[in-house]
Amino acid sequence: MRRRATEFRRPSRRRIPGWIWLLLLISVTAGMVLFFFQHRQDQVATPVQENILDAEEEMRATLNFTQELLSSNSFARQLAEQMTLAKAYLVIAKEHDNLQFAWELSSRIRNCQLLLAQAAAGKVITQKEAGPIITQLAQLIYKAQDSHYDISTIIDTLRSHVLALEERANSAIVQSAEFGRLATEVVSKSLHCVSIKLTEEWFRNPAHQRLSEEVRNSPRLVDNNLYHFCIFSDNVLATSVVINSTVSNADHPQQLVFHVVTDEVNYWAMTTWFLGNDFGGCTIEVRSIEELSWLNASYSPLVKQMVQDGSKGSIGEMKYKNMIFGLLLKHLHFYIPQIQPLLEKVVFLDDDVVVQKDLTALYSVELHGNVIGAVETCLEAFHRFYKYINFSNPIIGSKFDPQTCGWAFGMNIIDLIAWRKSNITAKYHYWLEQNADKTLWKAGTLPPGLLTFYGLMEPLDRRWHVLGLGYDSDIDDRLIESAAVLHYNGNLKPWLKLAIRRYKHLWERSLTFLYS
Ligand SMILES: *[C@@H]1O[C@H](CO)[C@@H](O)[C@H](O)[C@H]1NC(C)=O
Ligand SMILES: *[C@@H]1O[C@H](CO)[C@@H](O)[C@H](O)[C@H]1NC(C)=O
Ligand SMILES: *[C@@H]1O[C@H](CO)[C@@H](O)[C@H](O)[C@H]1NC(C)=O
Ligand SMILES: *[C@@H]1O[C@H](CO)[C@@H](O)[C@H](O)[C@H]1NC(C)=O
Ligand SMILES: *[C@@H]1O[C@H](CO)[C@@H](O)[C@H](O)[C@H]1NC(C)=O
Repeated sequence: MRRRATEFRRPSRRRIPGWIWLLLLISVTAGMVLFFFQHRQDQVATPVQENILDAEEEMRATLNFTQELLSSNSFARQLAEQMTLAKAYLVIAKEHDNLQFAWELSSRIRNCQLLLAQAAAGKVITQKEAGPIITQLAQLIYKAQDSHYDISTIIDTLRSHVLALEERANSAIVQSAEFGRLATEVVSKSLHCVSIKLTEEWFRNPAHQRLSEEVRNSPRLVDNNLYHFCIFSDNVLATSVVINSTVSNADHPQQLVFHVVTDEVNYWAMTTWFLGNDFGGCTIEVRSIEELSWLNASYSPLVKQMVQDGSKGSIGEMKYKNMIFGLLLKHLHFYIPQIQPLLEKVVFLDDDVVVQKDLTALYSVELHGNVIGAVETCLEAFHRFYKYINFSNPIIGSKFDPQTCGWAFGMNIIDLIAWRKSNITAKYHYWLEQNADKTLWKAGTLPPGLLTFYGLMEPLDRRWHVLGLGYDSDIDDRLIESAAVLHYNGNLKPWLKLAIRRYKHLWERSLTFLYS
């Protein structure tokens, strides 16, 4: 299995023509698009589709390839591709201390992100908006390739930077703050509608309250003979896909228990959805992050730092509160033993995964006394510790090996007894405090995870968890087929219009729209 991994990615050397092609393609198609838009603007500007699934089907049915290439969606895709390239050059420019150029790049990237976020919300991008951005980005990329950096020596680092960047962007909102936040905020219109309709339903039907109380008092929630799964999410449909796909692939769904924690805004919608749909007789508990009153600034350095950061900033209070809950949800897996004090073993799942195999088998994987089971990600050289953590710091340098293989969150088996014995949460807090000035790592949950679980991670067979469906359109079909869990880490989430089309159906097939 280890060997296979190099096969399914294209070797980076062979990508050189790829980059050049991409540039050519971008310029040519940009020109075509602009021309096309001038003549078609009226026809394209149809009202936003109510239902993403319908919209998708309609597109497949009516568009031929020429049209597809010229559709507003692939326009957005080109912008996204161009942006990824620009982001990579940004990193290189910074490394070369070319700050003026880095500044130019990042301001163009920001414009591009804003436009993409609008596209994700269903707005048609007009020629007037896209034209200048595409041209400017293309010029900068050209400049970077032509005069500043020798592409043939840099191409290897380039690819690694792109991947590392995308990965960090996934685990942290901060990396590409604007895009990450907007992209999740402006998820397709129908998702928003579903959430509102479900909330209405909760308040219309008092039986929901009673039923949810019943679930919350169920002895199954703390029964260690059952299989427990933790999901922390503010996205109803994504959580539904995770649970539905887990249940659909389990031999005995009634033995599964899901513990969902969401934010206050989505709590009713989430509860109503899981009460109103059939998930094979499994048990699903939904809680709001607000209920975790122990997770406050006096207990957790994480909350403390967030509160401090927030009071410095100029964002409105309401927005700040939403953001802090959103951010906290992403870090909540460091508090699983506190959230589930009576459980002994759980599987942690991100909300951007799809399950394809019976995950109860994970429970019998031998962890050899380790706390967490995860797949390693260092098959390509750059996913090692030094990529994530600042080794100039003497504490880091003396305690860790920079070449240690990185691994991934998103699908992990966790032994909570071993966790408590090793004081993992205290270790996590220690590293957070060491990083109060953000010099050890910039953002994300992976770097502190690598430090906290150092020496306590059991590597899993990589077929358990295949990553990259949110940014890498090149993943080998056989690998996807054999995967127990597929992970759409990256910005191109399957519920967004920007999703990588090749992988979208794998997610959609576990979802039905009750409200269309
Ligand atoms: C695709 O659409 C374009 C524009 O409408 C049309 O000119 C072309 O003939 C179509 N191609 C096919 C294969 O249908
Ligand atoms: C903060 O959490 C601690 C335990 O973690 C608890 O004792 C304390 O009452 C909490 N404070 C507030 C204001 O909720
Ligand atoms: C965990 O913390 C407790 C008390 O805080 C301490 O007694 C124990 O030795 C610690 N265990 C480890 C493995 O660090
Ligand atoms: C890395 O750590 C060193 C020493 O603590 C510090 O001087 C430097 O600024 C850090 N680098 C970054 C990028 O934070
Ligand atoms: C769960 O997935 C199945 C397909 O595996 C689908 O038929 C069903 O409608 C889905 N249920 C929900 C509530 O999305």
